Amino acid sequence: MDDSAENGTAVPATDDLQRSAVPSMRDDAFRRVVEYAPSAMVLIDHRGIIVLVNAQTELLFDYPRAALIGQSVDILVPERAREHHMAFREGFLAEPQPRPMGIGRDLFGRRADGSEFPVEIGLNPMDTHEGVMVLASIVDITERRRAQQVLEQALLEKTVLLNEVHHRVKNNLQVISSLLNLQASNVDDPHVKDILNESQNRVRAMALTHQLLYERKDFSRMDLGDYLDRLAQLLLGAYRSGAGRIDLRLIRPDKPVYLDLERAIPCGLLVSELVTNAFKHGFPDQRRGEILIELVTDETDGARLTVADNGVGLPEGFDLATVKSLGLQLVPLLVDQLHGTLELPTGCDTRFSIRFSMQPPARSSA
Ligand SMILES: Nc1ncnc2c1ncn2[C@@H]1O[C@H](COP(=O)(O)OP(=O)(O)OP(=O)(O)O)[C@@H](O)[C@H]1O
Ligand SMILES: [Mg+2]
Repeated sequence: MDDSAENGTAVPATDDLQRSAVPSMRDDAFRRVVEYAPSAMVLIDHRGIIVLVNAQTELLFDYPRAALIGQSVDILVPERAREHHMAFREGFLAEPQPRPMGIGRDLFGRRADGSEFPVEIGLNPMDTHEGVMVLASIVDITERRRAQQVLEQALLEKTVLLNEVHHRVKNNLQVISSLLNLQASNVDDPHVKDILNESQNRVRAMALTHQLLYERKDFSRMDLGDYLDRLAQLLLGAYRSGAGRIDLRLIRPDKPVYLDLERAIPCGLLVSELVTNAFKHGFPDQRRGEILIELVTDETDGARLTVADNGVGLPEGFDLATVKSLGLQLVPLLVDQLHGTLELPTGCDTRFSIRFSMQPPARSSA
């Protein structure tokens, strides 16, 4: 508190009034606050001379108070940073505003024995009777840095591990896929061959999710557009016999469409079943045509995934509810897992649409 403020009878001049709001160097209350502050506090004048330090400063920098008062603040700054520090100080005094020092730069303090430690510094201009001074509050962040490094290292290890897990799952699924392939090539019955080949496609669709996860290094979600793109290439490769005769076209939004991992596999399996059916049943007798996979999203995070073809169409009297074969029995189950609704094809039209929300469904507590 300023002397004039303590004088209860005299009305202070405007200038004095402003000053009275600012702690004076001679103010005991101000000195006490500084002395018992939990961080090191150093008050320097406009020349960079230390005017006042508190108990924490002695502890942190390992100097007795008397060795600091009257010294240049450079004594607390590593030699390599002194030049920059002086320029910074001049800049600060030209435009004195409370602010953290050296944002984005690593700051270090220097102890009496020359050793250094990382610090965080807050600067406050102080308007005193002796002119503008700077009160620096200095916190030793060695422990925080160490804890942060431990956390970062732990996170890195977990990420590497997760990557490895996805890589191995994908490799194991590929081994299963190769085994099915081997078995298919060892049987003569074309029906059994088909069954084995289709199982291979299902396993490959699952393996692809794990492959994309470790390729993209994002383990929480997957760009559905990317996934469908790769899946389409995979299925096209599996039905090389239709190459040139049957086109497989993917229409997807330009921007990424993220789907949570839990639903990525059922979604991939759905597309795999429906596209496989189109290749297998839609274009008999060297018929030509097109299979379309279309993903459309709206502003409310709703999505519609459609698989359609312009082949021969579904058999007369087709009813999804009574179908006995595995593929189309799987479809409603997979739609359920996707938390979606299936729009059934009308008549013989081979157009299966699934509506679902891109928002992850609320997890059940079970
Ligand atoms: N895109 C399509 N075009 C024409 N017919 C289709 C199409 N999709 C399905 N079908 C008809 O629906 C039937 C049932 O399909 P579903 O996928 O359940 O069995 P599948 O493909 O014969 O065998 P799997 O169980 O291995 O998938 C097929 O046998 C076929 O007759
Ligand atoms: Mg099928």
